Amino acid sequence: MTLNGLPKYTPAEGEIRDMTTDDLDAVLAIERSAYVTPWSREMFRSELFFDACVNRVALRETEVVGYSCFALVVDEAHLRNITVGRRWRHRGVAKALLHDMIRIALEQGAVFATLEVRPSNTVAVELYNRFGFNVTGVRPRYYGDTGEDALIMWADLRNNDYGRTGRESDYYGTDAKT
Ligand SMILES: CC(C)(COP(=O)(O)OP(=O)(O)OC[C@H]1O[C@@H](n2cnc3c(N)ncnc32)[C@H](O)[C@@H]1OP(=O)(O)O)[C@@H](O)C(=O)NCCC(=O)NCCS
Repeated sequence: MTLNGLPKYTPAEGEIRDMTTDDLDAVLAIERSAYVTPWSREMFRSELFFDACVNRVALRETEVVGYSCFALVVDEAHLRNITVGRRWRHRGVAKALLHDMIRIALEQGAVFATLEVRPSNTVAVELYNRFGFNVTGVRPRYYGDTGEDALIMWADLRNNDYGRTGRESDYYGTDAKT
């Protein structure tokens, strides 16, 4: 199925890969178009510098269409940023990036994933629900720009189906848990 002429996003081999400094212009263009208070180039550079941080870009051919930034600490993956270019939204890019994060997290021994999200961001909350994240708490006035609370969401990566859509072999190989 196509939407505005663009296909659903099913990443080919290598189309989700580690972010490098060469990606930052494209990443920042998406970041600035998506947020009132975007991360700066320096913030992304710091993420790229720290060993515990994993930063991934989703490509369509050579175009960066979205990215994720998460930290792996002991048995937890903390999703810090996931953003998709407006033109590419609602085509499965975020789902592909979350599958990718969960695969890496499990490979690295993480069994939980957590994130903060604005309650007003219903698209993101719905996406995370689909991946088995549940609201476990609230951080009052977490977002400095609007004073909005953050919902704290957690997922047990051992106990959910990761929002699988029937194409799990695309993400996990044919040995995927079913
Ligand atoms: C949230 C965001 C990352 C989702 O990216 P996306 O690539 O469009 O999401 P996907 O196409 O993978 O959709 C996954 C699910 O999210 C939900 N979703 C996505 N777009 C939606 C929309 N316009 N309306 C309602 N639900 C939507 C649906 O549950 C969807 O599953 P479905 O396609 O099977 O119905 C994207 O909207 C974005 O970059 N927003 C701005 C940045 C942001 O808010 N990031 C999250 C911060 S916590």
